[in-house]
Amino acid sequence: MEFNPLSPEFRLNPYPFYDMLRTHAPIFFWEPWQFTFLSGYEDCATLLRDNRLGRGHFDDSMAPASQKDLVRMQADWMLLKDPPNHTRLRGLVYKAFTPRMVEQLRATIQTITDQLLDTVQAQGEMDLIADLAYPLPVTVIAEMLGIPLDAREQFHDWSNALALTLDMTDDTAVYDQGSIAAARFTEYLADLAEQRRRSPKNDLLSALVSVEEAGDHLTANELYATCALLFVAGHETTINLIGNGTLALLRHPDQFELFKREPELVKTAVEEFLRYDSPVQMTARIVLEEMEYKGHTFQRGSQIAFLLGAANHDPERFENPAQLDITRQKNQHLSFGGGIHYCLGAPLARLEGEIAFTTLLRRMPNLHLAIDTPTYTDNYLLRGLKSLPVTF
Ligand code: HEM
Repeated sequence: MEFNPLSPEFRLNPYPFYDMLRTHAPIFFWEPWQFTFLSGYEDCATLLRDNRLGRGHFDDSMAPASQKDLVRMQADWMLLKDPPNHTRLRGLVYKAFTPRMVEQLRATIQTITDQLLDTVQAQGEMDLIADLAYPLPVTVIAEMLGIPLDAREQFHDWSNALALTLDMTDDTAVYDQGSIAAARFTEYLADLAEQRRRSPKNDLLSALVSVEEAGDHLTANELYATCALLFVAGHETTINLIGNGTLALLRHPDQFELFKREPELVKTAVEEFLRYDSPVQMTARIVLEEMEYKGHTFQRGSQIAFLLGAANHDPERFENPAQLDITRQKNQHLSFGGGIHYCLGAPLARLEGEIAFTTLLRRMPNLHLAIDTPTYTDNYLLRGLKSLPVTF
């Protein structure tokens, strides 16, 4: 078994490869890309918090013309920035995503979930991805930002193209497509921001527009990039929490029955879905200054990849990691990352997951898989299903 993060076998099912790496080479240097892969829990948790690792500087002069718009947009994403700019950009939006603020969205999220299930309830079958896992988080984040209903499909296509550029790939077309999406996204958001300047509404976009107008805290490009990032991060991941979580449940009838009997287990169940088949499988950092770690020298400028999905199955940290256990108590997974980039939207994702699973089980207790082997999307980093046909 050979580790190659670009191989179809790895991308289809990375877990056997994770086990092999963690056992034989938990700090593994992959020559072709000069990347060091970490697969152990402790190494990932420790180094995600080490400020000698970061994002480094974006230089759009080096990018080919066909990718400049992408590099320009991503250069303004907090996700890909170091302090102090990371701190400033995160500080501008974090209040909207605190557990207290997010809790106020509970009734809205419940209504959206019920409306989505109303549409399919009488049919006795649905595609869980197209009918619930995708439209739920997309509607929530679009409402928070203030994106008009009719633009959401278009936003989703752009967002998909941007999400693919975060994956490990050597296909330049992915970056070219991402760049076209970044340009269109920016253009659309610039128009929408202009409308909010003239007549503000009660949404995040208007709040950010007023920060931009107030002075030197936020440039116009940072405003558009932040909205695009929130849209991408706000749904491309949560789709996979709902999709991968449902698939895991349906493949473990004992856990499904237990969950139906004790729906109050929902909080530990959501954490277990996040750990068991993590929506975000990997993240990466650049070495900002040369450093030694457990006998390895990390050269300045080299890349470190954190295999979060592997860390979440580390037997040193999780008892019987390959087993789905919705009652698991000791479950400090790394699915939301760690350190300064720890997922800003974690409280929102958790609440959406909680409501989606509770409502699904209550309204469709006879849920069954309608096919044997669902197919995954082409994105390894954001692991999720293309579709999940179910009957109920
Ligand atoms: C199950 C759903 C989600 C998962 C698994 C997830 C996972 C992650 C992870 C692993 C990171 C850190 C990446 C890194 O360190 O490189 C991250 C960052 C981030 N996430 Fe999430 N996320 C989810 C949902 C959301 C939602 C709903 C939002 C809402 C807007 C969101 C917004 C963000 C943002 C803005 C960042 C960047 C934070 C920073 O750089 O400081 N995420 N997420």
